[in-house]
Amino acid sequence: MTSAASNLAILGLQWGDEGKGKLVDLLSARFRQVVRFQGGNNAGHTVVVDGQTIALHQVPSGALHPGCFLVVGSGVVLNLEVFLKELENLRTRGFDLSGRLLISSKAHVILPHHIALDQWREGGANKIGTTGRGIGPAYEMKAARMGLRMGDLLHPETMADRIRLGYEEVKILLGGTATLPPLEAITENLIKLAQPLLPLIGDTQDHLWKAWRKGDSILFEGAQATLLDIDHGTYPYVTSSNCSIGGLFAGTGLPPKALHHVLGVAKAYTTRVGAGPFPSELLDATGEKLRQVGREFGTTTGRPRRCGWFDAVITRHACRTNGVDGLGIMKLDVMDGFPEVGMVVGYRDGEGGTLESLPACAADWAQVQPVVKTFKGWDAPTRGITDPKDLPAEARSYLAALCDEAETPLAYLSTGPDRNEGFVPAGSILEPLLR
Ligand code: IMP
Repeated sequence: MTSAASNLAILGLQWGDEGKGKLVDLLSARFRQVVRFQGGNNAGHTVVVDGQTIALHQVPSGALHPGCFLVVGSGVVLNLEVFLKELENLRTRGFDLSGRLLISSKAHVILPHHIALDQWREGGANKIGTTGRGIGPAYEMKAARMGLRMGDLLHPETMADRIRLGYEEVKILLGGTATLPPLEAITENLIKLAQPLLPLIGDTQDHLWKAWRKGDSILFEGAQATLLDIDHGTYPYVTSSNCSIGGLFAGTGLPPKALHHVLGVAKAYTTRVGAGPFPSELLDATGEKLRQVGREFGTTTGRPRRCGWFDAVITRHACRTNGVDGLGIMKLDVMDGFPEVGMVVGYRDGEGGTLESLPACAADWAQVQPVVKTFKGWDAPTRGITDPKDLPAEARSYLAALCDEAETPLAYLSTGPDRNEGFVPAGSILEPLLR
């Protein structure tokens, strides 16, 4: 893909784990620049290449394609130890990133006391089921102007002073209930860890602007998803970054006109990990069947995911929020063999009225009654189907209703985990890339 008018964002439309990784894998080879713009090692994405399984948390997925230049944007928070391990793991598997990785000097560093604070809070009454990786506190320190940026690593002489600000605050919050490593030890360890990364730190905004102007194709790889967005998700049960479209511009420094298409990714059903509203959740044997067949256990923490029917209300909200041009619908095959499949097509409030938009507060979410529409299931398997004509009629009706409810056309249908299990329908925004 070489035309200047072909930059694409891939964003999650539910609560994460939609299967964005498969699409990023399929697509990244077609792009020159692959960019992460928010989140940290709370994201997890497993790729299988030549029979080798590689887990990526912070390195952009284009790592496996030698032609891709990888960018870690300013909106990301990085755990250096984890990042170095990922790089080492990639290197030993034959994926050398030298000369094709740039980390924003404005990205923030996740520090040991951020992790301690995250885990301490998760042990208390206000637990929200975070990944415990220090993501929230790292973003808090950023907003409180007490964060450590990657660029600060180039100034070891002032590093202890930068770290001290947040360190002292966290100590007060913890009130002696958790032991922190001494500040000197944190600083020394960081100086040591940072050494191999120093040559990779730079001005990613300038890099991306130049790449865009000269016509390089750019793929923006979202982490987490719209319903976990700090503004537009199910607050307070969200992550601490903007995982929807706004985060892309804040987290790269590129203007909106540098983006041309948005691919929104959703599972054919819904999952979420951690606490929080989930109106279409199935707490019965059907939910368990989705979990087992779909192998719905977290790649980052191993936690069993909560499972439920496709929720068209949240997906429509996510499509509107992000201006989604086409839907990537994943894991349709997991729903094979269900006698009936449901879809949440509306919400009623506590008084039986219809909700036109998503509630803002947890108290209002607690009142939501889902309106479930039932569809006849399909007997014939969809696993591995690569031609839309081969889909059972019932599966076709289900998908048509799903796209209709989401007000967005289908761009890709995944019918299994392998790269070749799925198809790009005629007229899809992905047609020039994947057909
Ligand atoms: P945090 O991002 O670790 O602060 O976690 C906040 C919420 O976001 C929790 O419910 C997590 O389970 C959820 N979360 C964070 N990252 C992911 C992800 O990559 N997939 C799914 N859920 C996530």
